[in-house]
Amino acid sequence: MKQPTVIAPSILSADFARLGQEVTDVLDAGADWVHFDVMDNHYVPNLTIGPLVCEALRKHGIEAPIDVHLMVEPVDELVPQFASAGASLISFHPEASRHVDRTIQLIREHGCRAGLVLNPSTPLGQLQWTLEKLDMVLLMSVNPGFGGQSFIPHVLDKIRKVREMIDASGKEIRLEVDGGVKVDNIADISAAGADTFVAGSAIFGSDDYLDTISRMKANAAA
Ligand code: DX5
Ligand code: ZN
Repeated sequence: MKQPTVIAPSILSADFARLGQEVTDVLDAGADWVHFDVMDNHYVPNLTIGPLVCEALRKHGIEAPIDVHLMVEPVDELVPQFASAGASLISFHPEASRHVDRTIQLIREHGCRAGLVLNPSTPLGQLQWTLEKLDMVLLMSVNPGFGGQSFIPHVLDKIRKVREMIDASGKEIRLEVDGGVKVDNIADISAAGADTFVAGSAIFGSDDYLDTISRMKANAAA
């Protein structure tokens, strides 16, 4: 069963010089979570932000869940660091961890919810022995590394398949989609079975966060 809809703006597209205010503004505009993209110029060809910035957001007074998306290799060293920096969920890519089951356990031992991220070409077999231990499956609908890319249409079929797997498990596991999510395609992504939506450029690139997030919520519910 789908979980209540969550809109998670990706701060990758925020104005980093005003990050605290940007995050406050999207939350005031109705966003539910903060999506925090961590890139290491190794697993992906881009370099972003680490635990210090996560901690800075908490010190700034951000109380909403922080949804940390690790695009880093290796993974395990950063798990305790993000947990103590205030992360709520930590998601990672299975090919970036030598022992996927151990990394899931590590995240949970540190008091965070655990997510596994599948790239557009990563097979669903990665979920066979992991799904029931996860709090969230994150399906990438672009190749990771950059904001502002276009949604890859075949991911809709993948969303439908993962929705069936989650429903069959009977567990409360979120299905998040990340990459190219916009006001005008979120209805289709929701209909395919996603309940948790990351959007970077669609939100931070718009003039009116309240209007954009409201229309995303309305279209996701339609
Ligand atoms: C891509 C990141 C995404 C990205 C989404 O590697 O994981 O979270 O910021 O940006 P948009 O919504 O612009 O595709
Ligand atoms: Zn992301």
